[in-house]
Amino acid sequence: MGKEKTLSRREFLGKTSAGLAVAGAAPRSFAVSAGPKGLALHGGTPVRSTPFPVWPQTTEVEEQNILKSLRNHRWCTSDAEFIPMFEKQWAGKVGSGGCVMTPCGTHALQIALELLGVGPGDEVITSPYTYIATIDAIMMGYSLPVFADVDLKTFQIDADDIEHRITEHTRAIMPVHIYGAPADLDKVLAIGGKHNIPVIEDACQAHHAEWNGKKVGTFGTVGCFSFQESKVLPGGEAGALVSDDEELISRAYNFRNFGLDPKTHRYEMRGFKYRISDFAAAVLVGELERYEELCAKREAHAAYLQAEMKAIPGFVTQENYPQSTRQNHYCFGVRFDPEHFENVPREKVVAALKAEGIMAEAGYNPHNKEPHLERSLNSRGFQLAFSSERLENYRRKNQLPRNDQLCATAFLLEQNMLIGERSDVDDVLEAFHKVQSNASALA
Ligand SMILES: Cc1ncc(COP(=O)(O)O)c(C=O)c1O
Repeated sequence: MGKEKTLSRREFLGKTSAGLAVAGAAPRSFAVSAGPKGLALHGGTPVRSTPFPVWPQTTEVEEQNILKSLRNHRWCTSDAEFIPMFEKQWAGKVGSGGCVMTPCGTHALQIALELLGVGPGDEVITSPYTYIATIDAIMMGYSLPVFADVDLKTFQIDADDIEHRITEHTRAIMPVHIYGAPADLDKVLAIGGKHNIPVIEDACQAHHAEWNGKKVGTFGTVGCFSFQESKVLPGGEAGALVSDDEELISRAYNFRNFGLDPKTHRYEMRGFKYRISDFAAAVLVGELERYEELCAKREAHAAYLQAEMKAIPGFVTQENYPQSTRQNHYCFGVRFDPEHFENVPREKVVAALKAEGIMAEAGYNPHNKEPHLERSLNSRGFQLAFSSERLENYRRKNQLPRNDQLCATAFLLEQNMLIGERSDVDDVLEAFHKVQSNASALA
């Protein structure tokens, strides 16, 4: 992703407003001929040879905060300056009763499961189209990730496929708001409510995404966020959980510190060391200052890209549910129709776009088929926690045809292309046009 560039705040705001000003300009007209040497993949001239903006970006605010933290000698969680500050700010930003920072989003998910009593022998229903962290957080506690199939158009968990996967062992439902767009919260919450099963939102990719105007992460019993550096709110490596349940928040604080209760000074509950350094929070407090401006730019460019991509046959962009009032476009999801591309695999289409200078990446692979799953099921811990009959049953039902299709045809564009100038997005469109109109050369 290239070297990080530090902008002054003035420079940053200048760039941001300039980008927004051109968001409404007329679209570029695209030359679709690949030229004498054809696609860049085959030696032709790439659409773009200059890098897109780097991510993450910083201003002097983060630098000052880090310096402040360095010089105040309050670096660890117990007497940190920025950790409680960021926790308060983030709880306020999402509209939640409380926020507890964690070393990363994976740990936030793991703590949420632990605090809701999910453990060995239990089942958690989740989406297979996600980052491995969702699944690992479940499996670290010797629980089974029970996958519901996906909704091909939105890339989200198919809420209609959840209910029949509920068993007497289901202890939580964990929707993932993938690529920063909300999962179908109305349906997921209704199913959770009907069966009295708590919902843990994996909002690790979905900062400030909204469902009917309310921030995601605040609908379930707990919401979990990641502030790892690729996210739209980056802090290096960090995470947080949010909840309106005061007791749960206080237990999360104690869990993070080996289960120590500050009132009794006794280790009242099982816990672990999930404390964090103040430096990540120092960065995050700075990042929050200009967060909304960057979001506005990302959203304006994503809306333009979505609209213009409708004119390119063979590609469709990730759809959203009507109740989804805001997406953060952490990633910009796209599917291609193999029939338009000589039935080449996803990797070939992504390679063609990359060769044109576009930051495209293949999406996820089918998690229900990853080798670690079967190895874990055969491990001593899982064999102790589950009967062989339950594991056999699990294997039999772990078929997800729509997720297979999604994994074979979906890929993503990185947010770097949405945070610069409108001409960056036009380059992306030009590359799509070029690859599409030269599809026959891909075979
Ligand atoms: C959907 C999802 N869940 C969980 C995580 C874990 O977050 P972290 O990397 O901060 O542990 C990520 C991180 O990318 C994610 O994308």
